[in-house]
Amino acid sequence: MLKFPQGFLWGSSTSAPQSEGRVEGDGKGENIWDYWYEIEPEKFHNEIGPEKTSGFYKNYKEDIELLEQTGHNVFRTSIQWARLFPKGTGDINPDGVAFYEDVFKRVKEKGIELIVNLYHFDMPLELQKMGGWESKETVYAYENYARTCFELFGEYVDSWVTFNEPIVHVECGYLYQFHYPMKVDAKAAAQVAYYTQLASSMAVKACHEVDANYRISIILNLTPAYPRSEHPADQKAARVAELFQAKSFLDPSVKGEYPEELVSILKEHDLLPEYTEEELAIIRENTVDFLGVNYYQPLRVKAPQYQWNPESPFLPEYYYEPHDMPGKKMNPYRGWEIYEKGVYDLAMTIKEDYGNIEWILTENGMGVEGEAQYREDGMIQDDYRIEYIQGHLRELHRAIEDGANCHGYLLWTFIDCWSWLNAYKNRYGLVELDLETEKRTIKKSGHWFKELSENNGF
Ligand code: BG6
Repeated sequence: MLKFPQGFLWGSSTSAPQSEGRVEGDGKGENIWDYWYEIEPEKFHNEIGPEKTSGFYKNYKEDIELLEQTGHNVFRTSIQWARLFPKGTGDINPDGVAFYEDVFKRVKEKGIELIVNLYHFDMPLELQKMGGWESKETVYAYENYARTCFELFGEYVDSWVTFNEPIVHVECGYLYQFHYPMKVDAKAAAQVAYYTQLASSMAVKACHEVDANYRISIILNLTPAYPRSEHPADQKAARVAELFQAKSFLDPSVKGEYPEELVSILKEHDLLPEYTEEELAIIRENTVDFLGVNYYQPLRVKAPQYQWNPESPFLPEYYYEPHDMPGKKMNPYRGWEIYEKGVYDLAMTIKEDYGNIEWILTENGMGVEGEAQYREDGMIQDDYRIEYIQGHLRELHRAIEDGANCHGYLLWTFIDCWSWLNAYKNRYGLVELDLETEKRTIKKSGHWFKELSENNGF
């Protein structure tokens, strides 16, 4: 049996905008997803929008019972900014406060460790209208929101998170059009990335000001970048891919400074954001206490074929291109590569290049389309998911034996949930959701996960 260190955390992650749903009169303000669905519902898989998530807002009491039944000793969720502050700033929604307080209290009463994230791609619409992350006003509004959360809920929360996968809202919102506001504007993307980092560092500062013992982190999707070949051009492509995809937030969050090579690329293309020396000092002085790492698949890259044309929008692809490596193992349902060793490799990078900072694997999981076909005897028989988890845990265990400072494994996700443009296309949960009736049924993996947690290994 592979045993994990004593006190290892076993659980799952979800996010508020993907699980809560909207209830008439709940006082929640609109965020960019609510708005985008109103104006372009056809963009969302099967035209299912964010109001129809797994209904956690109504069902949370029963759902918290399910946490116990699936062996959770840790649970990660988030707060919806627009549920707490319907306009992003100004008046607070008392129903939102009461809701989160009750959720957090109940999770704690179960003896489950609670990780709470403050931002999972869910910009309040009113702030987006004023420029969103392109505007410094949003940074101040976020700092106020974060500080309010620390003050209101700090007694229940074991660990705070400033942002989930911030590179995603930068790229998807400002380069690739998968998130609202769907811009293609590299200068704006750089400003958004910088202001997001500044907001994160200001939240770290506020958190420690509210209580010096509170712990706070940032969650980054660390995808090791593997070059196509040993050729220096491919090697460079991989290095630059890591600069953009990982180090752009990892370095300032953990080391307090940006990598010089990234700064010089941005300078070369006249993409440096507006900044002040005072802001850089805030970033330098307020690094995270630990790290959350999401890992689904690696990046395979090669030297690019194209030269940058100053007439067209700058994209990182002018430095690296995806490489479709022959023979790679795929998740046949989701189209993402499965490469378990990526966990080991990223663990060694954290150990060697980032002072072996404490970390938790905060997302890893297998999305499956058409999962209902695997229902037998009233339960989804998801052996493929169990195998997927085991494969990654073997590599994580090996990394821990080799000195990785990892303290927990959280699966994406708890109950099947709504996922942005993909809506309900891919199911990831330990618990199946019937979209019509909202009935929850534990999958085979949910029962297996309980044993995993009780045995602290498999
Ligand atoms: C993660 C995000 O990167 O991927 C989640 O943090 C998301 O919010 C998950 O749901 C799965 O994505 P998808 O598109 O396969 O449903």
